[in-house]
Amino acid sequence: MSAPFKFDLEASAPLGKDTATPADLAIRPRDRRFCRKARPVRWWLGNDPVATAWHNSLSVAFPVGESFFIEHVKAHREGVPPKLEAEIRAFVRQEINHTREHVAFNRYVTDAGYDISRVEQRLNEAVQVTRERPAIANLAASMALEHFTAIIARHTLTHLWQYGKAEPEVAELWRWHAVEEIEHKGVTYDTWLHATRDWTRFRRWWVKSLLMILAGRNFLKGRIQDTLDFLAQDGLTGWKWKWRVGLYLVGRPGVLRKIFPDWVAYFLPGFHPWKTDDRALIHLYDSEYADAVMPVEMEETVPAFRKAASAAA
Ligand SMILES: [Fe+2]
Ligand SMILES: [Fe+2]
Repeated sequence: MSAPFKFDLEASAPLGKDTATPADLAIRPRDRRFCRKARPVRWWLGNDPVATAWHNSLSVAFPVGESFFIEHVKAHREGVPPKLEAEIRAFVRQEINHTREHVAFNRYVTDAGYDISRVEQRLNEAVQVTRERPAIANLAASMALEHFTAIIARHTLTHLWQYGKAEPEVAELWRWHAVEEIEHKGVTYDTWLHATRDWTRFRRWWVKSLLMILAGRNFLKGRIQDTLDFLAQDGLTGWKWKWRVGLYLVGRPGVLRKIFPDWVAYFLPGFHPWKTDDRALIHLYDSEYADAVMPVEMEETVPAFRKAASAAA
């Protein structure tokens, strides 16, 4: 695990009262690797084609989406306070790791027999459309999609039972990614606050709300279309399977229904991602991971210690 970035709080110019990012937040890129040697399982999520297709559609979108976020946050980082500058560096490192791991996982999906080329083509076409827009609109779209990612991540970490029958290594990938999405959820927002510091409150609210509606609609439309694409490759088509997708997303576990209040909160005056402090979910993951790796480290270090002690005696 990499060391957390250290922030020089004394040197940090304030972002204003709008930011709620905790002053002592440490964004910690956890350089982990998954699914390199795992045997591909087509319906890796509990033998459920719908749950698997939904997650596959998200995963194929990550490399394109995360490159987009990195590009537009970097484009607006000039002149940001040192604390935010360090957070942006950590954010970029985390997203680069996520992209690398989802590229590996997407290979797992193709090895399981799926064709992801149509999905990738649609994503690339969607990014091409954004090239015509003002840069600040793309930062607002990144911020909106990062909010989507963070609230889906929170749902992932508070509904881990849904991965109980998943392939263990794949489930670990999703948990790791969710933890880091929560950890850096304020970065695009704070970059936006800095980039629009001279705007009126209404103009800020209007542009961020408009882009949430547009980017949110495209995000959901795209992910549902891609989910149906994966299901069609399994020969599962027609209204019955559309209904099953709807039940999965809105019924049980119902990620879209459960995240809806957090999505609406984005439009309220005074919103900031860190007004919901879910660092306990990060601490739980870090402590469980430390407990899991400790016995391995002890096995490696204790015999070496004994050998050194007996040599010294
Ligand atoms: Fe990510
Ligand atoms: Fe992210």
